[in-house]
Amino acid sequence: MPASAKQIRDDLERRFGEVIPEIAATDAIDLLASMARRGSCRRFKAQPVGAELVKMLCAIALASPSKSDLQQRDIIVVNDPERKTRLVDLVSDQAWVKAAPVLLVFCGNNRRQRQLHKWRGHAFANDHLDAFFNAAVDAGIALSAFVTASEAIGLGCCPISAVRNQAKDVSALLELPDYVFPVAGLAVGFPEEKPSISMRLPLRLTVHEDRYCDTETSEAIDSYDAMRISVQPYAQQRLSEKLGTTDQYGWSEDKARQYSEPERLDFGDFVRSKGFNLK
Ligand SMILES: Cc1cc2nc3c(=O)[nH]c(=O)nc-3n(C[C@H](O)[C@H](O)[C@H](O)COP(=O)(O)O)c2cc1C
Repeated sequence: MPASAKQIRDDLERRFGEVIPEIAATDAIDLLASMARRGSCRRFKAQPVGAELVKMLCAIALASPSKSDLQQRDIIVVNDPERKTRLVDLVSDQAWVKAAPVLLVFCGNNRRQRQLHKWRGHAFANDHLDAFFNAAVDAGIALSAFVTASEAIGLGCCPISAVRNQAKDVSALLELPDYVFPVAGLAVGFPEEKPSISMRLPLRLTVHEDRYCDTETSEAIDSYDAMRISVQPYAQQRLSEKLGTTDQYGWSEDKARQYSEPERLDFGDFVRSKGFNLK
């Protein structure tokens, strides 16, 4: 059944907990409907995803915008079973990754740009944080485009930032040279179940008019928490042995608990070891 503007409005209302204006008629209704109701998929059918389809999706992903047309992102399609197993082992805290029919790693790539400077005989005068940042953003944009395109044609995806937990080993496994670094993995396959719509912060917190304003943040997060507790409660409370459990376990408690533990303390060192100057 073709998507409708009403369905998009209903899905966005469920996601944001507020009424969102209905879209006017457009040929892109199916794509917008897919984007409105999307969710990450971590359970896949055994059905394989053809190499041609993966290649087409890579092309669509890399058609996305790129800072100054520098094209500082690459996608590694991990097909070799042995390498795939080793990559799965490196993200072993994410057991679901093992069953993903397709595993990709989106990388930032500032190496090519530096090669151009060498080959064309011009100084590289931008050896500072921006070089890393631009490549990371470019990779993120391509990742997002890949996800959107995949979900629009009925595939399921989930990014895997856990590849950065062992960035050095992932980099060695994928033979990433200097100035090339993993941004996120991506698991892709035909979904075993329809992903649920994960609620988002209210737009009054995340969409600003003319200037940044966060005077309502605390109250808005309290009501967002209450909505998530009633509509979409967390199945588990993080670090409950250390921090106990609470019946007020909403999004803010989950996120504050998540980042109360150190994560990827060595990532900066890894990025510097790839040659980047982060000043
Ligand atoms: C850059 C990035 C990295 C992510 N890494 C992981 C990951 O390592 N493991 C995981 O299960 N989900 C990961 N996710 C998925 C997020 O947890 C998910 O997008 C978020 O919970 C919102 O849910 P939704 O995508 O279903 O709307 C990642 C998402 C992004 C954008």
